[in-house]
Amino acid sequence: MKTFAEKPVDYSEDATYITVTTQLGIVLLSDCLLLALGRFSYLHCHDNVRVNIDGIIRLIEQPPQSAWIRSRLPARPVDQAAVIARSRPEAAAPLRRLHLNESPYPPSPHAIAAMAAAAQNTNRYPDPSTKELCAELSTRTGVAASQIVCGHGSEELINVLCTLGLREADEVVLPAPTFPGIPAAVGVRNAVAVRIKLDGQGANDADAMLAAITPRTRIVFCCTPNPPSGGLMSAEAVREMAQRVPDHVLLVVDEAYHEFGRHADGPDVLEILRRRRGPWVDLRTFSKAYSLAGARVGYALCSSVEVTDAIRYGKTMYGPSTVPLAGALAALRDDAHLADALNAVARERARITEGMTRLGLKPMATAANFVSVALPMPAIDAMTRFHELGILVRDWRDADHRHEIRVTVGTADDTDAFLGALRTILQTTNMTAVDRLSGAVVQRG
Ligand SMILES: Cc1ncc(COP(=O)(O)O)c(C=O)c1O
Repeated sequence: MKTFAEKPVDYSEDATYITVTTQLGIVLLSDCLLLALGRFSYLHCHDNVRVNIDGIIRLIEQPPQSAWIRSRLPARPVDQAAVIARSRPEAAAPLRRLHLNESPYPPSPHAIAAMAAAAQNTNRYPDPSTKELCAELSTRTGVAASQIVCGHGSEELINVLCTLGLREADEVVLPAPTFPGIPAAVGVRNAVAVRIKLDGQGANDADAMLAAITPRTRIVFCCTPNPPSGGLMSAEAVREMAQRVPDHVLLVVDEAYHEFGRHADGPDVLEILRRRRGPWVDLRTFSKAYSLAGARVGYALCSSVEVTDAIRYGKTMYGPSTVPLAGALAALRDDAHLADALNAVARERARITEGMTRLGLKPMATAANFVSVALPMPAIDAMTRFHELGILVRDWRDADHRHEIRVTVGTADDTDAFLGALRTILQTTNMTAVDRLSGAVVQRG
């Protein structure tokens, strides 16, 4: 008879246990054999099982713990910048975080005050319909509140769309590279990510994406401005997508950098989507221009109540939480703070771009709060060098783009530090390596 462990197993005492070292041993120590042996107790825990036979406790490795997972989880490229950030000793001077496209500025003071006040009410569940925030978003976008749904960041909404919309082997057309959360969500559903290379400007290639649609396509994701390039789709390209993506396919436009894109004279994507006959979702977030990445509030503007209700059904009921909701609402109402942030980002983005150009590089045209550039050295090596100089930047994490780095636009001081470090790195780069690699470098922009 099996008796389950009454207390968690302490793995620090592994030396007192005999470890079964081979799979054969594991099989032999299956339940049947143990039953035959008679007296035993069975200790069950998270990632392996210990068996106590007459005082001898054996450690058995279970069959792979991933056996229950039916998804083909995509191999996520290593986020080297995150590894570097985590490996930093606590006492070390803080690194300049120019790797996650966060805002370098604090949120609106009104948002901070609203969040502090809302903390008083956290004994209650938040409003599951996020009525107040949806009403304000409705006033500002012209989309009916019943067609707006908020989530724990726009990433939750991407996950929900894939959960609801995809079955195994369905196809999703998406730009590559793009926000890694999109192909990850597709992979979790065992669907097929049809990756379409960016065009020469680093924007989504509308014609190529349309040509990739097949009868198995369920969702088409566009992203504009698109990370990590920063390229903006033209109004014409968005119109093409809105008109030619078939009516039975969901068209999702990820506009996480919407405010920056509009500030850079990008097209009014929502206005174009409204004229589409088939279903669409326009995804936005408070994480970037509104400086609320830590609050986790995103929202979806949807083509119909049916699409909105489906997303509501698929997401967690009580999300976003009370405090972030209050912060997002106050941030949304503080137009002056947003305008200041957008102007500051545009100014520093121009300085970074000019500085890179002066150093002989060709930065990509970008409409977002980050700038990408191909370096005459592997991006991974450059990241290590930047790290040594106290700056986190990110490589493109894409096999086709091994020389590109992306730097988030920070404060004026961050720009100075980044350009100084870039100059040092380029000056001290082994010229033999540069010569060797120069043929492989793809310069864009
Ligand atoms: C294009 C894009 N979409 C979505 C997200 C996720 O944003 P959120 O913080 O709203 O989950 C990001 C985050 O970097 C992004 O770059």
